[in-house]
Amino acid sequence: MEINDIYNGKTRAYGIIGNPVEHSFSPVLQNTIAKKMGINMAYLPFTVEKGSVKKALEGAYLLGFDGFNVTVPHKVEVIESLKDIDPLAEKIGAVNTLKKVENGYKGYNTDILGLGKCLDIEGVEIKDKTVIVLGAGGAAKAAAVMAAVKEAAEIYIVNRTVEKAENIKKSLEKYYKGKVYAIGYDALYNIEKADCLINTTSAGMGDGNTYSVVEDKTFFKKVPFVVDIVYVPWETQIMKDASEMGTRAVNGFAMLIYQGIASFEIWHDISIDNETAKEIKESLEKYYNGGKNGR
Ligand code: ATR
Repeated sequence: MEINDIYNGKTRAYGIIGNPVEHSFSPVLQNTIAKKMGINMAYLPFTVEKGSVKKALEGAYLLGFDGFNVTVPHKVEVIESLKDIDPLAEKIGAVNTLKKVENGYKGYNTDILGLGKCLDIEGVEIKDKTVIVLGAGGAAKAAAVMAAVKEAAEIYIVNRTVEKAENIKKSLEKYYKGKVYAIGYDALYNIEKADCLINTTSAGMGDGNTYSVVEDKTFFKKVPFVVDIVYVPWETQIMKDASEMGTRAVNGFAMLIYQGIASFEIWHDISIDNETAKEIKESLEKYYNGGKNGR
């Protein structure tokens, strides 16, 4: 009989809470990082109903869970159950990582750290530059806060419903000294040039989807770098159009991996260097694609 000694009495417990969680990539991601970094931990998915986050965390604390990732629909609801919150997560108003502290959990937002790490590893500088964010949901807010804390010179928030872009603009203006513009898609084409465009809209998401919110692809001639937070399809229409115009484009898979690495760093008080982070990303990319997309 084969002995299974992956876990033992010293194994530390982590997990992801959300609903649904069965399609989450985080268990594979975190258990892979743990193996690579030689840390004795287990990471499992937990379905938690809306309204039950507080009780779930009280139970988890008593059981000695050291940390969690938090996904849809709990990223905002979880805040009221925290003992402490990181200032960056507070600025975004959403939490995706919990770390055990005395009497409960402290909340962080590593979605923003993941995006920052992605730009860093891609060699894209934001400081004093012009950043365009497409969309005005939770992901857009995280992208806009990232641009603000990295001291971009100007940030354009472009959304179908301009009022939602205005709300993000108002919250940024409380601390950000640069210029913020909230505009609709018609005004996008008046922007003369930008250094980085981040698509956070879900409009082009889903296998076989060929829709792009940027209808005139020649616009990409004015932007040298594009990040699409979507990674299904692997190459979104925005990425295809951007590449056609000579613009470098990456999908959201790197952000997914780097937000997980950032959570792992917080839990274990370590720093994973860019080279190791890239190696982890490339291995998981191969695993995820399983030979699809020519990778
Ligand atoms: P998340 O919190 O994950 O960012 P969300 O709050 O659902 O998700 O936001 C989705 C974003 O995609 C919104 O900015 C939405 O625009 P509206 O605020 O105008 O609804 C944008 N979006 C979705 N479908 C779109 C479409 N067909 N064209 C343009 N924008 C679209």
